[in-house]
Amino acid sequence: MSAYDTLTVELGDRSYDIHVGSDLLSQAGSLIKPVIRAKRVIIVTDENVAPLYLNSLEKSLESEGLTSESIILPAGEQTKSISHFEQLIDQILDLKIDRKCALIALGGGVIGDLTGYAAASVLRGIDFVQIPTTLLSQVDSSVGGKTGINTRHGKNLIGAFYQPRLVLADIDTLDSLPKREVLAGYAEVAKYGLINDLKFFEWLEETGIALCNGNKEHRRKAVLISCQSKAKIVAEDETEQGVRALLNLGHTFGHTLEAETGFNDTLLHGESVGLGICMAFDLSAHLGLCSKSDADRTRAHYAAVGLPTRPTDINGVSWDTDALLDHMQSDKKVENGKVTFILAKGIGGAFIARDINMDDARHIVDNAIKQD
Ligand code: NAD
Ligand code: GLY
Repeated sequence: MSAYDTLTVELGDRSYDIHVGSDLLSQAGSLIKPVIRAKRVIIVTDENVAPLYLNSLEKSLESEGLTSESIILPAGEQTKSISHFEQLIDQILDLKIDRKCALIALGGGVIGDLTGYAAASVLRGIDFVQIPTTLLSQVDSSVGGKTGINTRHGKNLIGAFYQPRLVLADIDTLDSLPKREVLAGYAEVAKYGLINDLKFFEWLEETGIALCNGNKEHRRKAVLISCQSKAKIVAEDETEQGVRALLNLGHTFGHTLEAETGFNDTLLHGESVGLGICMAFDLSAHLGLCSKSDADRTRAHYAAVGLPTRPTDINGVSWDTDALLDHMQSDKKVENGKVTFILAKGIGGAFIARDINMDDARHIVDNAIKQD
């Protein structure tokens, strides 16, 4: 088997490859060199990832005659903020870059989203490459060009659609990822099965536990299938005018939970998506759109790998239905005052629902936060 697989996000003259496999960091220089315009790159990473992978990346770039400088940011969701964005832009400009320089995002979704937005903004747009190092970023955030930061009004409320020039998903980097982060990413992996690929979900039911425990072949296959699924949707609807919204399965409920806990380690983004997906299936079952057994099967699978499946599984939070519904109303997925939900006619049968009565959503939230 070759060291990596390649697929392409087809977007005309902005198309780019995603390489998925092992040992990609050591080949980064030769893979990146042909897709950027200058021999100078700025690597943006965080303080957890830098000691693990920055040196290999720098060496690989150097071996291809590329010079690099590095910016190391604090780790965590709080770094996706206006103040860190301002600091990052200043640090980049302090390096006296020109329009042909490229940024490389080395890290998880936080680094990828922030660096992508910096690349979209600085000098009105420079090239960037994604080297995602979390499962979540390999299967979701590094692909598709959504970049951005959070504000006190909510998540990802400032940003741009701005595609990378290349994505390198080196599954070896997942070896150092804490189990909780692996599981958070897994919530997004299973999402692709739940959206439109029953066969993939069935495969995950067989392999998910081993995958989360470190099985590399399963990880590689899951990252590849997830990226294929996302690439296809992004190619069809880059700026989310329609079908791309399906990728937001779980996000309407999930973002409200995340907003309530304050975008921090209490509840990781991937965990909130997993909880939100369980609630979206509960709402689908409540409305008679899918069977209760599909909702139970979804929750059972997430529980089997070790993910929380009810908000009450999160320690130390006292949830309040009104507060959660308030967050839901201020999400950017609200259109003409209507909250958009992604619901399901069954596993693999997700669809966009814009006319949901908020009393039904309230019923689901009420039930979900009730202590047994
Ligand atoms: P993250 O970037 O915060 O990374 C999680 C933690 O793992 C951090 O502490 C990080 O330092 C550490 N880490 C990263 N790689 C590591 C490695 N290989 N070994 C050890 N530790 C490592 O979180 P995430 O889950 O990757 O990304 C979440 C973010 O992604 C959220 O802000 C979310 O909004 C965003 N997101 C964006 C999109 C998109 O389409 N742009 C899609 C989904 C999620
Ligand atoms: N994560 C959702 C999207 O990229 O559209």
